[in-house]
Amino acid sequence: MDNSALLSVRDVSSAYISRNFALFGKKQIKPVLDHINLELQNGEILGLTGKSGCGKTSLAKCILGIIEYEGKILIDGKELKNKSLQVQMVFQEPGASLNPVKKIGWLMEEPLIIHKTGTPVERERKIDEMLERVGLDPSYKTRRVHELSGGQKQRVCIARSLILSPRLLIADEAISSLDVSTGAQILNLFRELHANLGLSVLFISHNKDAVEYLCDRVLVMENGRVGEVFK
Ligand SMILES: Nc1ncnc2c1ncn2[C@@H]1O[C@H](COP(=O)(O)OP(=O)(O)OP(=O)(O)O)[C@@H](O)[C@H]1O
Ligand SMILES: [Mg+2]
Repeated sequence: MDNSALLSVRDVSSAYISRNFALFGKKQIKPVLDHINLELQNGEILGLTGKSGCGKTSLAKCILGIIEYEGKILIDGKELKNKSLQVQMVFQEPGASLNPVKKIGWLMEEPLIIHKTGTPVERERKIDEMLERVGLDPSYKTRRVHELSGGQKQRVCIARSLILSPRLLIADEAISSLDVSTGAQILNLFRELHANLGLSVLFISHNKDAVEYLCDRVLVMENGRVGEVFK
C-alpha cells in the first residue's frame, strides 16, 4: 500500500439494513460493497465506472462519511472520523442540490458563513474568484437557480463545492443529466480545474467514453467489487 496516496480505500465493505415488516420486523441485510481497495494519488483524476446498481454511489457515500462501513478510508494517511470538509461532492442533478429561493451569491456564501471563513469582503472576493474559475462572471451572483441553464447550474455546484478548498472532489454522474455538448464543456471544466488548481477528482460515470477522455486511470466496478482496470 502506498502511504503517500491522497485517498486510500482499504478493504471497505458495506451493507444496507432494512426491516421486512411482513416477517415480523426481521432484519434484511443487503451487501453492497465487498472488500473494496483503491487508491487515488494527489492531483489524479480517477475514473470509476460500472453498471447501474453496482455500488458506485454507495462507495462515494462511504468516502463522504454519510454511510457506515467496515475497513478503512484514509485521506493523506489519516482515517476519516466522520463527514470531512476535505471531501466534497457534485451530484447528477445540479438543480436538486441548490435552494431555488436563494440567489447564487447567497448559495455560494453559505458554506463560508457556516464554517466561519473570512470577512464579508474576503468572502465576496472568494465567490467572484470561484465563479470565474468555473466560467461564470460575478453578475451571476444576483440570479436565482431557475434563471440558469443545466450547464450553468452544474458550474455553480462545482464552484460551491470547491469554495472551501477540499482536497478531493467526488463527481457522481455529474454530466449525466446534461446534453452531449454541455456535458463535454463540463468535462473540459474539470480538466481546466485539474490543470490550474491541481484538483484531485474521483469521477464516477457510467459513460465509458467520458471517463476514458477525462481520467488518468479508470476502475470498473461490478457487484460491489472493483474488478478490471481499463486504462
Ligand atoms: N439507502 C438504501 N437502502 C437500501 N438499498 C440501497 C440504498 N441505496 C442504494 N441501495 C442499493 O444498493 C445498490 C447499489 O446502489 P448504488 O446507488 O451505490 O449504485 P450505483 O452504482 O451508483 O448505480 P447508478 O449507476 O444507477 O447510480 C443498488 O442495488 C441499490 O438499490
Ligand atoms: Mg449512482
